[in-house]
Amino acid sequence: MVVIDKIDAIRAQVNEWKKKGLSVGLVPTMGYLHHGHKSLIKRAAEENDKVVVSIFVNPLQFGPKEDLATYPRDLERDKEICALAGADLIFHPSTYVMYHKDFSTVVNISGLTDNLCGKSRPTHFTGVCTVVNKLFNIVTPDRAYFGQKDAQQLFIIKRMVKDLNINVEIVGCPIIREENGLAKSSRNTYLSEKERQAAVILNKALKKGKDLIEKGIRNVDDLLSIIKETIECEPLAKIDYINIVDIESLQNVEVIDRSVLVGIAVYINKTRLIDNFVYEV
Ligand code: PAJ
Repeated sequence: MVVIDKIDAIRAQVNEWKKKGLSVGLVPTMGYLHHGHKSLIKRAAEENDKVVVSIFVNPLQFGPKEDLATYPRDLERDKEICALAGADLIFHPSTYVMYHKDFSTVVNISGLTDNLCGKSRPTHFTGVCTVVNKLFNIVTPDRAYFGQKDAQQLFIIKRMVKDLNINVEIVGCPIIREENGLAKSSRNTYLSEKERQAAVILNKALKKGKDLIEKGIRNVDDLLSIIKETIECEPLAKIDYINIVDIESLQNVEVIDRSVLVGIAVYINKTRLIDNFVYEV
């Protein structure tokens, strides 16, 4: 597996591929790869001639009190996972390569970032959009792969691509879970065994909500109370948010009369986890 850390070298490699008429898929990640990332890389390898995985823990998307310093990293393990999943190269730049000392341009998206994770992490999506935009400019992929695990991120990136006329197809991929239903996440590594068991409550609560919607419950306040009560049964869990939003605007709805995203963020002790499902009418 080739690891490249310089922008010029990535551009030279991608140009060489493109001259041969090969298509390029990009899977942006922050590393510490798991089966969720692997599913994205595999899908990219099925649909493109060449696959680039970027591994960059992007400081711009972490708030001042968040886990930038402790975010898990293991490049050697990541290399093996990338090779097995069918990637051709890893782009692993330093912070300095991505953000030179006078860096002063960001990509700001309004509206879609007001709710869900945007409320408790106000600068997060500016950081995500800025780095993803840079990665698109550096790699110029035909397709880029994102997980529905971070559903708000996926919707925001689709909007950014549309608004800024970026020439890339965004492919959304399903959430990969542990056997017990917990959504795979690099942050699961922070959890003790007891916390890991407690974290199952996110998926349990969402499943309950989904069952009720499927049974015909349409009132959002009723659904929110039941999801809230379910999560509160778990003593280690503290709710950050539970939102039921329109999938286009990501604004709260009162009644489920259209397709919605049901998104939650819950602290299990100090670890903040997210999960969601989309209900399409
Ligand atoms: P990261 O958290 O490393 O996730 C990289 C990609 O993997 C994202 O598109 C995310 O949605 C997807 N992913 C993570 N867990 C998943 C799971 N259980 N099932 C399916 N897909 C999953 O998201 C980021 O990094 C960053 O914000 C990034 C887009 C790289 C910008 O820095």
